[in-house]
This record gives sequence, C-alpha cells and structure tokens, in this order.
Amino acid sequence: MSNVTLPLSDSLADSLATGPAAAIASHTEALPTTAAPRRVFIESFGCQMNDYDVARMVEVLRKSGYERIEEAEQADLIVINTCSIREKAENKAASAAGRYRPLKEKNPSLIVALGGCLAQQEGDALLKKIPVADLTFGPDQIPQLPGHVATLLGQQSADPATWARPRTPLGKYRLRLAKTEVIDVEDYEFLDADPRPGDVSITALVTIQKGCDNYCAYCVVPNTRGREVSRPADQVVAEIKRFVDQGAREVTLIGQNVNAYHAIGMPDGDDFAELLARCDKVPGLRRLRFTTSHPHYFSRKVADAFRDLPTLCPWLHLPVQAGSSRVLAMMARDYKREDYLDKIAYIKSVCPDISLSTDIIVGYPGETEEDFQDTCSLLELVRYDSIYSFSYSRRPGTPATELEDTLPQEEKSRRLQIVQALQRTITNERMARMVGRTEPVLIEGLARMGNGQLCGRTGGNHTVNMDPPATGEASALIGQVVPVYITQARSHTLAGQLA
Ligand code: 5AD
Ligand code: SF4
Repeated sequence: MSNVTLPLSDSLADSLATGPAAAIASHTEALPTTAAPRRVFIESFGCQMNDYDVARMVEVLRKSGYERIEEAEQADLIVINTCSIREKAENKAASAAGRYRPLKEKNPSLIVALGGCLAQQEGDALLKKIPVADLTFGPDQIPQLPGHVATLLGQQSADPATWARPRTPLGKYRLRLAKTEVIDVEDYEFLDADPRPGDVSITALVTIQKGCDNYCAYCVVPNTRGREVSRPADQVVAEIKRFVDQGAREVTLIGQNVNAYHAIGMPDGDDFAELLARCDKVPGLRRLRFTTSHPHYFSRKVADAFRDLPTLCPWLHLPVQAGSSRVLAMMARDYKREDYLDKIAYIKSVCPDISLSTDIIVGYPGETEEDFQDTCSLLELVRYDSIYSFSYSRRPGTPATELEDTLPQEEKSRRLQIVQALQRTITNERMARMVGRTEPVLIEGLARMGNGQLCGRTGGNHTVNMDPPATGEASALIGQVVPVYITQARSHTLAGQLA
C-alpha cells in the first residue's frame, strides 16, 4: 500500500486521523452539515466483475451515509471504476476524469476516486497522470472506501489557516491517496451482498471467485485482480437466497475462470459442477447462468449440468480467443483447436439447442493469414449466437509484450472487420431459428425504448420485446417466466407476443 502525500499533508492527516474509523469520526465532527446524505455518483467501465464491485461500493458507502445519484453535477463523491483489459478501456477512464474536472474546479470539496483494475495496476502513477483524482483504490480496498474518503475529507475540512503552503482544489499540496494493497489469498474475505428491498432487479450477479491463476500471455487480469480465491459454497448459496428473498429470479455466477472453482473439495476436483447443483436447489430461483469459462477447465460434468439442472439456462460463454493451435500455444491457453471443438461437440450432444458465445482476439503477435483463417473456420464450425471480438492490445506487464507485435494496425483492423462480418451472417441465422417458436421468457421489466412494451430474455439469453397484455397489469408479469411466441428476429433482439 502506498500513500501519495506531501510532507505537510502527511502530518496534517496524522493529526486528524490514524485509521479509517478515526477518519470517519473526524470527518463527521468537522463537517458543518445536518444529517443529509452525502451523494455519490459512480461511472463504471469493463466487465461484470466491475458491475458487481459497484454494487458493493454502493452498499459500503450507504452504511457511511451516502446515497447513489445519477447526475455527477450533484455529487460530493465521484467514483470512476476503471478497466484495463485493453488500451481503449484505459482511455475511457482518462476522458471520464477530464469530464469531471470542471465540477471539481467549481466545488473544492468534491472527491474524485478511481477504482477498478487500472487503479490497482497503476496506483500512484495514475494519480500523476490524472490530476483531478484524489484517490486510487484497488478492488480489494472496497470495504475501506468510506474510510479513505473520510481521510481525504478530514483534511479538506481543516482550517486553511494551518496550511503553510497555498492550497487550491486541484493544488499540488492537497492530500492524495493510492490504496492498492492486495489481501493475501489466505486472508481474503468476500464482501457479502446486502441487497435492500426495492433495490434488487429480477437478475442478480453473485461472485464465486476473485482473481485468476491462468496467466494467459496477453491478459492483465492476474496482475490487477491477483491470485485466484474461491468463495465458500455456503456463502454463495446464502447470497443467492438473499437475492431471491428480495425479488431476484435469475442469478449469474461470476468469476474470471468459474470452472476452476475449488471451495468444496470434490475428489475429482469437479467443485464447480457441485456448486451449480447446490445453487439449482435454492427455492424460488428460476434461472441460473455463469460466466466466464475457460475451455481447459470445462469438464463433462459441467456440460452434463445443462441437461440435468432445471434452472441452468441453455447459454454458455466459452471464450476460444483463436482458432489456430499455434496461436493458442503462444497465448498459453492450455488447449488446442481440436480439444475445444471436442468440448463443443459434447456440449451440443447433451444440450442441442444451446446458445453459445465466445471471445476472439485477432492480430495476436505472430498470427499469420493461415492462423487467422483458422479462427474464421472455427466460427463457421461452432456457429455461435454472438461473439465479442477484439484487436490485440499490448498490455504492460503481460508475457505477450515479449513477443514481437509486427502486424500493422490496418491489418489487425482488416481481420477484425472480416471476423465481424462473418459473425453477423451467423448471428442472423441463429436469431432467425427462434422465429415461430414459443419460448419461455423471464420478464425483466419495461423495454428500454419505452412505448409500454415489456422486455425479457429467453433461456439462450436473447432479449425479447413484446406488447403488454391487453387486460390486467403488465407489472404483474415482471419476474415471471411466461411463454412468448417469437414473431421477428432483428439484428440483436427478438420481437414476440405473449402466448
Ligand atoms: N488484447 C485484446 N483483447 C484482450 N482480451 C483480454 N486481453 C486482451 C488484450 N490484451 C479479451 C479476451 C478476453 C476478453 C475479456 O477480453 O478476449 O476473453
Ligand atoms: Fe473486468 Fe478485466 Fe476489465 Fe478488470 S480488466 S474490469 S477484470 S474486464
């Protein structure tokens, strides 16, 4: 852990507070406010792990008197939850911070905090790059977030007369903190979700694992999220029960490599299949999903769960990354093209109508035209419902930086366009298969585009929009799984009618 503080700020901070609890005390004493809640605005980038972290931030901040708001202009605290998976994701954090700078100039006591993977990886360096930021904090520091903010506020509310040097809201001599301590695997404790009635949507995320031990050559996650830790199964099940009690009907289990889950101790190491079986039995849970999977760890027992567990949806995201065994070896993925295709064939044999999706990286260092064609042919063979495709992005500190990145950006872009065009055709075909069927759809709420339509998802994770019932309350259907006749396939959504 490191604190970026100049000598003056250090001593002042010490005199104000010696730890989070003291900091909170000094902050509450010092602020001349009534009990009005302080307001936090959060902008988050990246994956579902980051979405999950945001929910935990909101909960810990709520206990310290914060409420979440949707307009940054009204905020006392702005949190930007960063992602560092690709360069583009990194740039988004910097431009978000730039957008909030005028607010900080107007309101000197506004605190701007950067969380997430980029904050974890860069800590102090990110404070130097982004002057508007007061705090950088890693994912393991979420429980301490209110304390870190209070430390900063304690200093901000001190009598300026005691300051020996000039101080401005963005001044060089203000206290700034980089809190990037990672909790040891043995000591790591998962923060339990604490959903409030009315806060919970029909679908909920439940974390079962943090970190990743895979060290795929291109990936920054083992550096940002640390070693893999599995969450005890009883905690996972208890959390699902809490969400279901508050109205959730679908749960997605999340982790960087859920198939490597190991907190039960099954003799053959197949703990994830056992965890799925336990989650499936939670009363009131209608649908279970999981993401994200690593093909190397994906076992037959987990595939069989698609056939055997009533709640497990026929949907699987199984990132392949590349279709060429040569590139997969350079990526340190631990499987060959044929192994992957064998697993897909087995999954399709136990669950023939499963909707599959994947991640693809094009333009990996050393990827030849022939390797690239292997990726295209794999897409043709598997016929995914959808894919996420990316051009390789060099990430500092990853093993792939040692490979020579020779492909020009134009060539990477060309390959990306080809992959995306190919997949569009396949996606159209996969969406068209749904038309004319009557599918069980979990109604999640009103459609985003308004006009009173309801919106839900099929088991295969396709969004379906439909008119509300002609009679009766549309809202009575929210949270129910109802039969819907699919009338039309659009590029990424379906249209249907309540059957
Ligand atoms: N460059 C491009 N794509 C990447 N991904 C991860 N790291 C990189 C990188 N350095 C992609 C992978 C992964 C998804 C979450 O992001 O496809 O599965
Ligand atoms: Fe999520 Fe990975 Fe981005 Fe971190 S780097 S926020 S784990 S996608």
